[in-house]
Amino acid sequence: MTATPTHRLRAGMIGMGMIFDETYRPFFERAHQEGVYSRRFGDVDVPLTGVATRTGRRAEAYHQRAVSAGQIADFRSFAGENSVGDMLEQGVDFACVATPDDRHFPAAKAVLESGTHLLVEKPSVLKLQELDELIRLADEKGVLAKAVYHKLLDPDHKKLRTLVHDDVLQHVNTGYCTLLEPKAISGSQFSEWITGRNPGTYVAVHYIKLIDFSFGGRLKTVMATGQRGLVGPADGPTWDSNQLRMIYEYEDGREAAFDIHTSWVTPDNFPGYVEQEVQFRFDNGVWNGHSRKRGVECTVEGKTPNEMKISINNHYNAPAVEPWGERTQRGYGVEVIERFVREVADVEYGGPESERAERLHAARSLTYNDLSADRQVVAAVQALEAILERAANGEPDCVVRVNDPRGGLVLYRPGSSDAEVLYEPTV
Ligand SMILES: NC(=O)c1ccc[n+]([C@@H]2O[C@H](COP(=O)([O-])OP(=O)(O)OC[C@H]3O[C@@H](n4cnc5c(N)ncnc54)[C@H](O)[C@@H]3O)[C@@H](O)[C@H]2O)c1
Repeated sequence: MTATPTHRLRAGMIGMGMIFDETYRPFFERAHQEGVYSRRFGDVDVPLTGVATRTGRRAEAYHQRAVSAGQIADFRSFAGENSVGDMLEQGVDFACVATPDDRHFPAAKAVLESGTHLLVEKPSVLKLQELDELIRLADEKGVLAKAVYHKLLDPDHKKLRTLVHDDVLQHVNTGYCTLLEPKAISGSQFSEWITGRNPGTYVAVHYIKLIDFSFGGRLKTVMATGQRGLVGPADGPTWDSNQLRMIYEYEDGREAAFDIHTSWVTPDNFPGYVEQEVQFRFDNGVWNGHSRKRGVECTVEGKTPNEMKISINNHYNAPAVEPWGERTQRGYGVEVIERFVREVADVEYGGPESERAERLHAARSLTYNDLSADRQVVAAVQALEAILERAANGEPDCVVRVNDPRGGLVLYRPGSSDAEVLYEPTV
């Protein structure tokens, strides 16, 4: 017998590319079967009712494949210029934005303007001015505005943060992180939106958030450089790889420096598919994490490393047959989406309507995903984008200082006393 759900949260999806397939799709398919339940908010049905994409092709292919197979309920696909507005007009309770990095803002703004809860992929937005606008709208409309930083839910990163939180690892001094994406990402997967983009904003942002959330402190300085010539011309605006440096200062006046190296031109047959490595050095310890060393290397003749990966991240979204026979796709990439839906369900159904404002406030106070807690991360992204843009225009080695006497985000050129204020208010 199937229980009748007590509540309903209709979901909308904007953008249905790689990340939809890896994390949102498994979540929605699971929710279609099981709903989402807690003693606080009851049994909530979470149907995906509308999707908005550029061409509608992937949405229709998924519809054809999954609806008839009973994997997902019927949903409407909207395509083209007004797809987001059309989808929102149909009415959804929350919407997820997974469009290319530089197209999050207009979609996210439209979602909030319609009074709908928002979940936006990382990087939330590229400018603090945009972040301010989204936070203001969420406030005005009384809805949640949250970003997906799933690496905070990676069990290894949770352990790192727990050791810092419990003062076992004390005072971070330096850190380095690398994330190497295969060429397929820049060459084919993102070919439609790669021009003018960089792997720093795309993936360093995971580590910016990890550092900002795990260690706290005040972001002071951002520097960056990179290489060009493979994805686009060597003198063009599209980057193959980037090196970002951030300096943080802590309450006791001591500083830490973090270097984040990213690339999306690693050979496709490199065994360390989406290779990730971090090292953080503390006053009293060292944390070393490596995606390959923690895990599995598997070789299958004729399949690895292309059709199947040699280094499999089974913690992220691994499709598997459970010991009890069920086929599932679970992991922290899926868990982070379910967690957001639980936060929305709690706001809407976790108690009497008269206490909704308190529940909303509690959900907004969660700094791991609320947009109001994303200020230093967006500041680092905005600085990185500005530095790379100047470099592509023949002005390399600019430095951005945060909360400087001249403004919140101020860009300095080497050899020039001129300063350019990228963002006036305090970050
Ligand atoms: N959390 C993660 O680890 C992770 C991993 C990959 C991607 N992402 C993020 O997810 C976002 C999407 O990445 P992806 O890999 O799925 O990209 P993708 O290129 O595979 O898919 C992009 C999708 O957006 C749609 N789209 C493009 N412009 C649109 C518009 N104006 N309105 C509506 N739909 C539009 C396209 O039709 C497509 O369905 C990016 O911001 C990326 O940084 C996050």
